[in-house]
Amino acid sequence: MKDVKAATAKLTIEGRSIDLPILRPTLGPDVIDIRSLYKEAGVFTLDPGFGSTASCESAITFVDGDAGQLLHRGYPIEELAEKSTFLEVAHALLYGDLPDRAQLIEFEDRVTRHTMIHEQMHNFFCGFRRDAHPMATLVGVVGAMSAFYHDSTDITDPWQREVASIRMIAKLPTIAAMAYKYSIGQPMIYPKNDLPYASNFLNMCFAVPAEEYRIDPIFAKAMDRIFILHADHEQNASSSTVRLASSSGANPFGCIAAGIACLWGPAHGGANQACLETLREIGTKDRIPEFIKRAKDKNDPFRLMGFGHRVYKSHDPRATVMKESAHEIFELLGTKSNPILEVATELERIALEDDYFIERNLYPNVDFYSGIILDAMGFPTSMFTPIFAIARTVGWVSQWREMISDPHQKIARPRQLYTGAAARDYVDMGNRKS
Ligand code: SDX
Repeated sequence: MKDVKAATAKLTIEGRSIDLPILRPTLGPDVIDIRSLYKEAGVFTLDPGFGSTASCESAITFVDGDAGQLLHRGYPIEELAEKSTFLEVAHALLYGDLPDRAQLIEFEDRVTRHTMIHEQMHNFFCGFRRDAHPMATLVGVVGAMSAFYHDSTDITDPWQREVASIRMIAKLPTIAAMAYKYSIGQPMIYPKNDLPYASNFLNMCFAVPAEEYRIDPIFAKAMDRIFILHADHEQNASSSTVRLASSSGANPFGCIAAGIACLWGPAHGGANQACLETLREIGTKDRIPEFIKRAKDKNDPFRLMGFGHRVYKSHDPRATVMKESAHEIFELLGTKSNPILEVATELERIALEDDYFIERNLYPNVDFYSGIILDAMGFPTSMFTPIFAIARTVGWVSQWREMISDPHQKIARPRQLYTGAAARDYVDMGNRKS
């Protein structure tokens, strides 16, 4: 913990005061350190969605929701999306900075050499129904990595931590592509060491043994950029899941599987699939008002997927980049007008003029445009969240490494506000009132 004390906060409870240190971060709001609160004052704090609570110290990613700023190791996401590559960003997230040329080549080679999975793991896929959601398969097969890679599950060994990190980043695309091929009844395609990361994934998804697959450089660039935009995002729900699971010393593959399960939720990474399905349901611009009305109706559980964010209250910088990419893709593909993109652009325009959305700071988030691009690239909606998981594995692994290597880290064990029954004696069956 960086001990940068800014001042102290005085908390007075029933006439008794305690001083709590205020810690000053590099960026973002000051933090009141309440670690001693229960010991000194005998009280807990309550913050169910962690909206006002820092769960850890981290130096990986910074988000300023009011300014719409996202930095990875200090580098703005807009610059990384324009100038970098996913594996270069992965290097920065994992090791703290952008690599020099030799470091990048060495890192890319290490990842490339770990892209195949143990041949016996292929059997797992046959155990799933063909129509299983690829995220279900991903949770299962990634968790099963702990049954195959015993030589990289001892988290106290830095070498094993490093190998486990590379294995997860390298094998997620292979497993996700295998889940996709299995779901459509096509033969699985092995990774190819002469292809860069994003192209390798496209090839594993779309190549067939019967003919060569030509990798469109436009798609490869868009795929790599989508990976960059989804790589990490501070202590979001799935990253917090990975940190909490790892705090017990559990093996890294199981913890990443827990993160995948959390990401699948429609309020989180599952929103990109839900968003495209909503856009398809809307279908034409004239039906938008009907859906805006439903989104505002408290009695209707419908939400406009791809809108709103727990942290971004001005705009999600990733959505801005994604929107530009979507327009670029369709222009380059010569698709004069893509009906889904037209509906999305009009929906965004209408929503951003509507008081309901303005008052609640509901802007398009990273999931709003990503699905449109993935759809144009030929992915089914069921593959949208697995693609998010491939990218976010770099963030999960980076957060995991940071936590595991912190000598002060301990098992996460939140307390509670108990509102259940007070102590009472057991009641024999004959005396129970129904
Ligand atoms: C991701 O945390 C991260 O960093 C996540 C992520 C990452 O990179 O890891 O950025 C990725 O998960 C992006 C978010 C993807 N989810 C969606 O697009 C699903 C739709 N969005 C919502 O479910 C919602 O906006 C959340 C969950 C994203 C954020 O919810 P909050 O901040 O907890 O806000 P809330 O649920 O308390 O809503 C505040 C108000 C409510 O209305 P009131 O009760 O005040 O009248 O806004 C309304 C909500 O009903 N609201 C919406 C809405 N989102 C919020 N109304 C309609 N449509 C929506 N999408």
